[in-house]
Amino acid sequence: MILVTGGAGFIGSNFVLDWLAQSAEPVLNLDKLTYAGNLGNLAALKNDARHVFVRGDIGDAALLARLLNEHRPRAIIHFAAESHVDRSIHGPAEFIQTNVVGTFTLLEAVRAYWNALPENEQKAFRFLHVSTDEVYGSLGADDPAFSETTPYAPNSPYSASKASSDHWVRAYHHTYGLPVLTTNCSNNYGPLQFPEKLIPLMIVNALAGKPLPVYGDGQNVRDWLYVGDHCTAIRTVLEKGVPGEVYNIGGNAEMKNLDLVHTLCRALTALKPGRDIASQITFVKDRPGHDRRYAINADKIRRELGWQPAETFESGLIRTVRWYLDNETWLMNVTSKAYQQWIDLQYAQ
Ligand code: NAD
Ligand code: DAU
Repeated sequence: MILVTGGAGFIGSNFVLDWLAQSAEPVLNLDKLTYAGNLGNLAALKNDARHVFVRGDIGDAALLARLLNEHRPRAIIHFAAESHVDRSIHGPAEFIQTNVVGTFTLLEAVRAYWNALPENEQKAFRFLHVSTDEVYGSLGADDPAFSETTPYAPNSPYSASKASSDHWVRAYHHTYGLPVLTTNCSNNYGPLQFPEKLIPLMIVNALAGKPLPVYGDGQNVRDWLYVGDHCTAIRTVLEKGVPGEVYNIGGNAEMKNLDLVHTLCRALTALKPGRDIASQITFVKDRPGHDRRYAINADKIRRELGWQPAETFESGLIRTVRWYLDNETWLMNVTSKAYQQWIDLQYAQ
């Protein structure tokens, strides 16, 4: 079996659902169920014996040792993290705890387990660390896109914690020989994304007739990838990636935030005609230290492993908007009191 951490979050749950739709190999899913984790994402697997869910923390060394020795996974796919930049600005401590200390604790447990494996199983074992393009910092308008050799320059507490975890993963390969793979991916969007991130937040607010809060001048650029394509990329890296290597993953879909929000308004209006949603766009105070532009050069994974995205931004966005329109109950369940408290804190002004 494989062990997935953070498999009740946005990308992790898409990955688990996708994996079990395509493979008979069971998944052990370890997730702490923070505000971002949601077992409702995995409701389709309720009666599927191939999915073993354990609520727990990647920082719990005893639990990790027990799970590894009991289930004997052949690979770890490490998604678990605190993932939201704005929350990292309000409270960075949790980001150190999970993204840095948690990843270190996981690496230590995996090292002990891996050391005791027979040689052929050691060779076949993989630790795939899911990271982000934000570790590379911010690009100017004419800079070339981030490649795997771009120097690290994280600017937010979130990206600093992810950069640190990447370094730990790298060190475990160079020092101990652990067969690690690291992926650095651009902004994901798609079904099951918690509505604190740009696209689902705008959908929720648009449907509720609330303001669509665009930070600063709305000219920041992100490079968007449909979550299903990210899952395919991870499976490809797991299967064909070379241990110790880093693979950048992106969707070739750079877009200014304001243009994206207008495109989203048009998509919503097309699927749910009614009021003029774009009139809800409101400029709000900028995010402190807001990175201006991210762009991924995904040549290496295409050239060496043969992966490329299947969705265009237009096709992925329509699928996403349809999913949110069709899943009102899911949305109601995640926009609870705690969610409203976050919205009040973040958008108070
Ligand atoms: P998410 O916030 O939706 O989900 C994170 C999951 O991790 C949740 O289920 C949460 O309960 C779990 N978790 C948090 N702390 C934990 C702990 N201490 N122990 C066990 N589980 C814990 O995040 P996401 O957007 O799905 O991102 C998944 C991974 O992909 C993260 O590592 C993130 O840095 C990376 N990433 C995300 C994006 C993106 O656009 N969302 C892009 C590139 C990389
Ligand atoms: O680049 C990969 C990263 O993408 C991942 O590592 C992170 O986990 C993920 O959260 C995402 O980070 P961003 O900060 O880019 O995503 P977010 O959805 O928070 O914001 C996207 C852009 O939209 C960013 O420029 C800030 C802006 N924004 C965001 C929100 C929530 C707004 O203008 N208004 C908003 O209300």
